[in-house]
Amino acid sequence: MPPRERLLTRSFDLPDSHRLETSRRSGGYEALRKALGMAPAAITEEVRRANLRGLGGAGFGTGMKWGFVPKETGGKPVYLVVNADEGEPGTFKDRYLLERDPHLVLEGMAITGFAVGARRAFVYIRGEYVRPYRILAGAIEEAARANLLGPNILGSGFDFEITLHRGAGAYICGEETGLLESLEGKKGWPRLKPPFPAVVGAFGCPTVINNVETLALVPRIIERGAEWFAGLGTGTQGGTRIYSVSGHVRRPGPYELPVSATLRELIEEAGGVRDGHRLKAVVPGGSSAAILTAEEIDCTLDVDGLKAAGSMAGSAGVVVMDETTCIVEALYVVARFYAHESCGQCTPCRESTGWIYRVVGRILQGKGRPEDPDQILDIARKGVGTTICAFYDGAVGPYLSYIEKFRPEFDHHIRTGGCDVQPGRVPVLTTH
Ligand SMILES: Cc1cc2nc3c(=O)[nH]c(=O)nc-3n(C[C@H](O)[C@H](O)[C@H](O)COP(=O)(O)O)c2cc1C
Repeated sequence: MPPRERLLTRSFDLPDSHRLETSRRSGGYEALRKALGMAPAAITEEVRRANLRGLGGAGFGTGMKWGFVPKETGGKPVYLVVNADEGEPGTFKDRYLLERDPHLVLEGMAITGFAVGARRAFVYIRGEYVRPYRILAGAIEEAARANLLGPNILGSGFDFEITLHRGAGAYICGEETGLLESLEGKKGWPRLKPPFPAVVGAFGCPTVINNVETLALVPRIIERGAEWFAGLGTGTQGGTRIYSVSGHVRRPGPYELPVSATLRELIEEAGGVRDGHRLKAVVPGGSSAAILTAEEIDCTLDVDGLKAAGSMAGSAGVVVMDETTCIVEALYVVARFYAHESCGQCTPCRESTGWIYRVVGRILQGKGRPEDPDQILDIARKGVGTTICAFYDGAVGPYLSYIEKFRPEFDHHIRTGGCDVQPGRVPVLTTH
């Protein structure tokens, strides 16, 4: 692993880290000043060469995405939309960034706006994030008073206005086109693509959509250059990211590590598995990521490293499970989430998520049938690639991997009606 650098979390422990004064004492907004003296295309090129990849889930190249905004927009404005919906179970990094260093996020937004030609940005923030919302609103006011946002930033002639928009608790509104629909005041049903948002996005205008953390890394690239940033990562992804570590570790919480670190190193960083227990499984990238066994944790945490391991980096929500975890119950929890959150627009997703939830539920209740695990695999596979957005393909990651890797546990539940991991435990079944 390269030397430890804290790009995102370095101010997290300072008193009043959310205040402009604190941010400026550690160089806050200096990257914006520098960027305003650069050509917008040179900023995009720098971000591309840095190998910054989106940290919201899909891992798409950020510089490349910015480059898709048409040069000629026919008089239409270009918008920047910040995805602060953070709905992926097990993920809490954007919350920390917004609460602890909102000015880093705002600085990244302003630089991005300048690079892509957006004078207006929308932040779509998860409705439950009341505290981050208040802190961010306060930070916007502070920055505007200091001429770091608003008209004619630092005398550069660049105007940049931010509108905050609060979500209302739907996971699908984190999917970028569901988000756009919701931002426009409609039901958050994802859009067919193409056209992609860079061409037809918010209110019919070209739009760049990025995750909070992706944007928070932009000032660091401008400060210290693409080569340095790229050098912290692997050949195809640069920099660090914040891993939200939860579950059976000694010290759960947000951990910033280079993307070239391994999953084993991350678990050790979080204090290792809790005392007296041993690792059973890890979900490395939010609930949609395929589960990995204890033998599969020597992979690197970058997008390609986790893909090669058969899972995905996703939102870097890392859920660690020790030997006391019943995998059938874990899948039940995940299946309930997907059944509840499916927006219902596409039939395969709407029907399969509910069906699989009910079948896993009956296995957990001790009423499973021998053919149930294969039936789940069959239902899950048939829907892949048939829906408008990636929600269902994401749900299939856990459906397949929990069963394929822990099949004996499912068969045991069906055969005996009970659990060999937690004997005698009565599972709590819920309806939605
Ligand atoms: C069902 C679903 C939920 C998503 N939820 C989020 C989310 O809460 N936050 C986020 O940043 N991206 C989320 N995404 C990914 C976004 O669609 C999009 O890829 C991301 O905002 C792009 O930003 P990035 O390139 O900076 O990662 C979700 C995707 C899907 C399919």
